[in-house]
Amino acid sequence: MGRAIGIDLGTTNSCAAIMDGGKPRVITYKGGESTIPSVFAIDEGGRQLVGAEAKRQAQLNPVNTVMASKRLIGRNFHSKTIDKVKQVFTYEMLEGDNNEVLIKVKDEVFTLEQISAAILTKIRDVAEEALADTVDQAVITVPAYFNDRQRQAVRNAGRLAGLKVLRVLNEPTAAALAYGLGKNLSQRIAVYDLGGGTFDISIIDIKDRIFEVIATGGDTFLGGVDFDDRLMKWVLESFLEEHGIDLAWDRVAIQRIRDAAESAKIELSTLSSTRIHIPLITRADDGTPLDIELDVTRARLEELTADLVDRTIATCQRIFGEAGTGREQVDDVLLVGGQSRMPLVQRRVQDFMGRPPSKGVNPDEAVAIGAAIMAHSLAGTTNADVTLLDVLPMPIGINKTDGTMHVLFQKNQPLPDYKTRTLTTSKVNQRSIMLRIYQGESRLVAENELLGTFVFSGIRPAARGAVQIEVTFHIDSEGILNLTARDKETGQTVESTLKLGQQGGGAKRPDDVEEDKTQQMPPVAAPAPFHMPVASSLAGPAVAPPALGPMAPSLAPADPAAPPAPVGPPPLAATTPSLMGPAPAPAESSGDAHTAATAPAPATDALVPQRAPPPAPDPGLIGKVMGFFKRLFGG
Ligand SMILES: Nc1ncnc2c1ncn2[C@@H]1O[C@H](COP(=O)(O)OP(=O)(O)OP(=O)(O)O)[C@@H](O)[C@H]1O
Ligand SMILES: [Mg+2]
Repeated sequence: MGRAIGIDLGTTNSCAAIMDGGKPRVITYKGGESTIPSVFAIDEGGRQLVGAEAKRQAQLNPVNTVMASKRLIGRNFHSKTIDKVKQVFTYEMLEGDNNEVLIKVKDEVFTLEQISAAILTKIRDVAEEALADTVDQAVITVPAYFNDRQRQAVRNAGRLAGLKVLRVLNEPTAAALAYGLGKNLSQRIAVYDLGGGTFDISIIDIKDRIFEVIATGGDTFLGGVDFDDRLMKWVLESFLEEHGIDLAWDRVAIQRIRDAAESAKIELSTLSSTRIHIPLITRADDGTPLDIELDVTRARLEELTADLVDRTIATCQRIFGEAGTGREQVDDVLLVGGQSRMPLVQRRVQDFMGRPPSKGVNPDEAVAIGAAIMAHSLAGTTNADVTLLDVLPMPIGINKTDGTMHVLFQKNQPLPDYKTRTLTTSKVNQRSIMLRIYQGESRLVAENELLGTFVFSGIRPAARGAVQIEVTFHIDSEGILNLTARDKETGQTVESTLKLGQQGGGAKRPDDVEEDKTQQMPPVAAPAPFHMPVASSLAGPAVAPPALGPMAPSLAPADPAAPPAPVGPPPLAATTPSLMGPAPAPAESSGDAHTAATAPAPATDALVPQRAPPPAPDPGLIGKVMGFFKRLFGG
């Protein structure tokens, strides 16, 4: 077995760390840098370049240089997010079969997972060289606000890079680990993470070795790149005004201006003014070469970007409200992410929190170090008994007939958790039922991410309403969802397939399939106010989610009153339908399918610092995996 490292796979920069002799160590690259640019390119000669060498040639080869690809991973090609990106990114994006974004570099087409895998492979190679050892396991961090699809995509990328992904860990939780481990703290902290592409705020309680997330929120489309864009647009406008030439269509010029804007922005964190000088940016109509020569002040940059900072503060405000905690109850504030070095950000966070931020963590390295601590522990090389208890970043639910979302799992509810739901047939001899599952904070499903469309088929012929299919939704401690289903009467597993969607409309409903939508919903069981004792523990075995296998018990008791039997996590499924799913679909009209009540989540005790299996299912409820929302450990 090789070594296990922690990887902060960033939008702009990635960083890796390892536990070495009981201490975390950031892995440095040949030139001594502790981060590697998250950039992928193919040069004129057809060579694949990753990291600094890819970034260096970006200005000359913008069309074949892929930057900030983390913004696209796990997203739908037709989303508003991708529309925005298309306007500012220099490389070509195509639509994949499953509505995912593909990127064309030279004449080759890559999935986002392949691009991330190339970056992860580079990190692994560098780490192997630095350690003179094999590296084959990793904890990879993701923004806390990543949804299920995005998390799964990162997992897949790790696998493509030949890594066993021990866990997908939330970035702020990792930063908290780096900050708190070994200090015997009893504190409530806030982690404000403004990186290159994403923003997260998390409120976390640290009690010695237990790290419990109270609430989390963020914006996966807000980061340093947006600050650069503002300055870049200002430069373009200034140039247009001065010379009457619009450079917005010149990809090489855009790339040069973006680089210069980022450098100026960084300088303005320490200087009150600087100069943007880009020689020979274009030629005037008469052939005269033109330069960009502009002075920019910190005040101007702040004016151009104040609303971006406001957005982060508004999110903080909301998350404190959701957490039901006052700012005065927070003992320390961590600033993470390179963009948090901006003086305006520091001022605003300080004003909001009523205290200066902690100096206790390095904003560039804390996430990778936290990941390394976790990796070390999960790889089974330590006795540290730290427990991480995370929450679900945004609700997961199903559609109601009126197009609103019936929430099965609430935002900020502790993980892991499960719910069951009974579906019934609405026609005589109905053989299939379809169910769409969404994640997002909107009331309307169409505005949320469609995680997948499941078709439960092979239902035994019977009278209308005579067959009851019990579906169990299980979210593991990483925030990844799995599904199983069984015929309630016979106990037989019901076959399910994950249908990938068609453009814009989601999965097309086969003629013989009735879609299940919630009409008169019985209230969903309130999220249980507990942490199940299966949260990831650094002491325990790898954070193996209780995934399902052919002979695995289903995860929920048929009768909520029946005491769960203690069994270990069942084996993984042999087959796992992919979930690079479809676009949000408008609700289809669907006859009169019915759904029955959702079983309440079982009560259990809180904060158990050792991993234990999830409440087990009634032994009679043998199920085979029907669908995986996520391929947890690849296949
Ligand atoms: N001194 C500085 N002042 C302002 N911004 C800075 C400074 N140093 C770095 N940045 C910005 O921080 C961003 C990179 O931060 P970081 O490396 O934390 O992000 P990332 O991990 O790549 O992204 P994410 O965490 O969002 O996926 C870039 O936009 C960079 O321009
Ligand atoms: Mg980061």
